[in-house]
Amino acid sequence: MDEVRNPFAPGAGTPPPELAGRTDVLDLTYTALLRIQAGRSIQQPVLVGLRGVGKTVLLVEMQKMASDQGFIVVDMEACEEQSLPELLAPKLREAFLQLSLVEAAKEKVKRGIGVLKAFVGGFGITMGEVSITYDPTVGIADSGQIEADLPALFIELGEAAAAASRPVAIFVDELQVLKSDEFSALIMAVHKINQRRLPIVFIGAGLPQVLALAGNSKSYSERLFLFSEIGALKEEDAAAAVVNPAKAEGVEFEPDAIAELLRITQRYPYYLQQWAHDAWNVASGETITWSDVIEAHDISTAALDASFFRVRYDRCRPAEKKYMRALAELGPGHRRSADIADVLGTKADKIAPMRANLIKKAMIYAPSLGDVCFTVPLFDQFMKRIIPDIKSLL
Ligand SMILES: Nc1ncnc2c1ncn2[C@@H]1O[C@H](COP(=O)(O)OP(=O)(O)O)[C@@H](O)[C@H]1O
Ligand SMILES: [Mg+2]
Repeated sequence: MDEVRNPFAPGAGTPPPELAGRTDVLDLTYTALLRIQAGRSIQQPVLVGLRGVGKTVLLVEMQKMASDQGFIVVDMEACEEQSLPELLAPKLREAFLQLSLVEAAKEKVKRGIGVLKAFVGGFGITMGEVSITYDPTVGIADSGQIEADLPALFIELGEAAAAASRPVAIFVDELQVLKSDEFSALIMAVHKINQRRLPIVFIGAGLPQVLALAGNSKSYSERLFLFSEIGALKEEDAAAAVVNPAKAEGVEFEPDAIAELLRITQRYPYYLQQWAHDAWNVASGETITWSDVIEAHDISTAALDASFFRVRYDRCRPAEKKYMRALAELGPGHRRSADIADVLGTKADKIAPMRANLIKKAMIYAPSLGDVCFTVPLFDQFMKRIIPDIKSLL
């Protein structure tokens, strides 16, 4: 069918034609925004889930929501190449500059920017070509210790926001990449603004290992954050995600086609977009049939293998690939480290370094002590495709 009209949108962070099945978490965030505006305390929303379930697109939706509500939106994605201060400093500078447009906040902003400059100095960071014209404030947020400096900086931002009567929403994606001292600094910063009822909302997203990071960091993190698990869609939502965008183009899915789409994708958003996209292109009439979905199978699998799965796989060393292939051999879901060792004919302590590396690379996570699980749904199937015979590795 006409590829130009194809509404489906497989891709990391690509907004779907229909954001299906996420009203609960969106409502909850909306309420949090209104409560912050009303000067009330909240638990900061954090989205937790595997890759490709739709965390990033939810953050984008929430940013629109915050912006429509009059929030200043600060948005960033944690990455391995940059420290949290490096990532935050230019973004917070922008937020201060926006707040400086409000007359009533001028003094607080001036002070805040001075503190930001001290913060930047403390970590020895440069902020590109744009310099800050205020002198750094001495003695606040300038120790170079993130756990002390970040809370101090957030308080300054919160006070400037309060003076301007403009709340600030800070979004951080890929939280699992943060180092543990950065994560606990963030927790302390959020704790301080909460205590002072300052108008800042923090909204985060990350892989399931975020829960462990939060648990290890500070004991009160569980009260501070409201973790929402984002996963595969419910049946009716998964169906709506493919049926409604097609309907808007005058195209229908056969009931059997929908059932097959839901089965093969296991209702994971990324895969639904991929299969629906490819089934659309394969279809010849204005109805997408069961056989179109079946025909799309090889195309969708090849597309996912070449991008979504492959980029992650390529970052692993041979021994790590072997570990992942053994995990795949056991099937999907949570698997015991000891069983993986068995498959490889070795002892769990021998493969512990591979396990640690793979957790660090966010290929797997440990849902509980001694268990591991892939962070990408259906990754076990990919591993079996790329290394069909495990015996070739043993
Ligand atoms: N609720 C949803 N309904 C339909 N498609 C979705 C939904 N959420 C995400 N998607 C699609 O899934 C893919 C992955 O979304 P993304 O936000 O990048 O996931 P994550 O950040 O969790 O890895 C994108 O192609 C997006 O369009
Ligand atoms: Mg994402």
